[in-house]
Amino acid sequence: MIPGDGIGPEVTQAVVRILDATGVKFEWERYAAGAEAFELHGEYIPAALYESIARNRVALKGPVTTPIGGGFKSINVALRKKFDLYANFRPIRNLPGLETKWPGVNLIVVRENTEGEYVGLEHEVVPGVVESIKVVSEKGSTRIARFAFEYARKHGRKKIHSIHKANIMKLSDGLFLRCARQVADEFPDIVYGEHIIDNTCMQLVMNPYQYDVLLLENLYGDIVSDLCAGLVGGLGLAPGANLGADCAIFEAVHGSAPDIAGKDFANPTSLLLSAILMLRHLDEQAAADKAEKALETVYAGRKALTRDVGGTAGTSQFADAVLAAMG
Ligand code: NAI
Repeated sequence: MIPGDGIGPEVTQAVVRILDATGVKFEWERYAAGAEAFELHGEYIPAALYESIARNRVALKGPVTTPIGGGFKSINVALRKKFDLYANFRPIRNLPGLETKWPGVNLIVVRENTEGEYVGLEHEVVPGVVESIKVVSEKGSTRIARFAFEYARKHGRKKIHSIHKANIMKLSDGLFLRCARQVADEFPDIVYGEHIIDNTCMQLVMNPYQYDVLLLENLYGDIVSDLCAGLVGGLGLAPGANLGADCAIFEAVHGSAPDIAGKDFANPTSLLLSAILMLRHLDEQAAADKAEKALETVYAGRKALTRDVGGTAGTSQFADAVLAAMG
C-alpha cells in the first residue's frame, strides 16, 4: 500500500475501510513514496518499497505528486518501468444515478505504459533548444496490442481501435500500427480499426458509443483516458491498473489534487474501483461484487455523494454510506 500524498491518504483510508469490510483478510505493508519518502528515508522510492512490491506482486497506490517542469521524476512512471508494468488498463463506464451527457458509456482504454515520450530521455542540446526522445519498440508495441486483443476476446469485446498520429510520426507511430495490425490478424473475431488521435478526441466527445476498446501509446493514452473519465463524470470516478507479467499496481487515474487536499472533499470512487479491479485480479470475485454492488447502491440512491459529482458529503461520509450498503 502506497497511500501517496495530497488527497492520497484520505482516499486510501476510505478504501481500506471498505476493503476490510469485504471479508478478505488484508495485511497491508505501507510505504511512503515521493517527497514524503525523501524526507523520511532520503530516497524517493525506498528500497523496502521495491522489495515489498517484488515479494507481494500486488500493490494499491494512492496518487503521488510530481513536481512540474523540474524536480524529481515521476514515482508512478518509475514504478511502472521498474516492474515492467507495460499495460495500463482503464475501464470507463457510467455509474447509476449520475447524469452525464452520455449514459451507458462502456469503454476500455489500453495504454502502453513503459515507452513513448515517457522514457524520460530529454536534454538541452544548446541553450534554448531541448530534445525529447520518443521510444517505440516492436516488442513493446506487440505485447500491448496482444494484451488488448486477448482481453477483448476473453471479455467479449467486439472492436479495437488503434489511436495514433502516424500521418506525422511516421516511423514511431507507424511501427506501433504495424505491430497492432500483425496481432489483429491473429484475432479475426475482433473488428480492428485505426483512428488519428485528434479526430478521436472529437469523436469521443461527439459519440463515444462508436468505440469499444482503445489501444494507445503512452502519452496519447494518458490524455485520452482523462478525456474518457470526463465522459462518465470526472476524474474521481475512473479506475486504473498497471499490469505486468509478474506484478500489478492498482491506482486511480487522477492525481494528488492539491487544490482539495486535506479538506475531506475527495471522491474515493476512482481508487475504490481500482481496488475492485485488484480484488478481481486476486480472484476474490465475491468480495469484488460485494464492494461494487454497495458502491452502485450509493450512487443509484444519490446518497452521500461527494462534491465533484453534485453531492455535499465528505470523503469519510461517502465511505460510511458504502459500508452501510454492504450490510
Ligand atoms: P489531479 O488529477 O490531481 O486534479 C485535476 C482536477 O480534478 C482537480 O481539480 C482536482 O481537484 C480534481 N480531482 C482529482 N481527483 C479527484 C477526486 N478523487 N475527487 C474529486 N476531485 C478530484 O491533476 P493535477 O492537478 O494535474 O495533478 C496534481 C498532481 O498529481 C501533479 O503533481 C501530478 O503530477 C500528480 N499526478 C499523479 C498521478 C498518480 O499518482 N498516478 C496521476 C496524475 C497526476
